[in-house]
Amino acid sequence: MEDLVNMGLVRSIGISNYGVFLTRDCLAYAKIKPAVNQIEMHPYFQRDSLVKFCQKHGICVTAHTPLGGSTANTKLFSSLSCLDDPVIKVLAEKYGKTPAQLVLRWGLQKNAVVIPKTSKVERLQENLEVFDFDISDEDMEEIKAIDKNCRSNQPAKFWGIDVYS
Ligand SMILES: NC(=O)c1ccc[n+]([C@@H]2O[C@H](COP(=O)([O-])OP(=O)(O)OC[C@H]3O[C@@H](n4cnc5c(N)ncnc54)[C@H](OP(=O)(O)O)[C@@H]3O)[C@@H](O)[C@H]2O)c1
Repeated sequence: MEDLVNMGLVRSIGISNYGVFLTRDCLAYAKIKPAVNQIEMHPYFQRDSLVKFCQKHGICVTAHTPLGGSTANTKLFSSLSCLDDPVIKVLAEKYGKTPAQLVLRWGLQKNAVVIPKTSKVERLQENLEVFDFDISDEDMEEIKAIDKNCRSNQPAKFWGIDVYS
């Protein structure tokens, strides 16, 4: 990838799903620092130390699965979504936003890029309307407290219902 950058064929290099250990390792040997680390990040998997580590080293964090991924699909995973969390619901109501908007705004206020996916046009619009409000520091702290350190992205276990084990 570095050769491709030097040849002018690639502008920036990204890494994905690198934890602190791998990112530190990469920084030790990379001649060109990765521009971005795309990692799973949402209120149930906040990854504070990894996010801070990347940002301290000038690596932009992109939050994939920013809504909790397929667990946000309540038809499949009824009780596991951070969008259903009581704290998220109450705060969403307080700000006059949907739980998804609140969760995306939380990601932005952690200085991450958020890349939600939806199959529904109306949700595309909903997910864009996150730039007209600020979550207070106090409420960010409340969201911090609901972290479950739970990865929802476990392809090997995806079709078993027990995705959080
Ligand atoms: N680098 C990696 O290893 C990696 C891994 C996983 C994902 N990703 C990337 O991350 C992006 C998002 O991933 P993802 O789809 O897994 O997670 P996600 O965006 O967190 O969740 C998508 C789910 O949320 C629902 N949803 C979307 N907007 C909603 C809203 N406003 N209210 C309620 N539910 C909503 C969608 O259902 P509907 O379609 O019914 O709206 C879908 O079930 C994709 O670009 C994906 O490629 C990267």
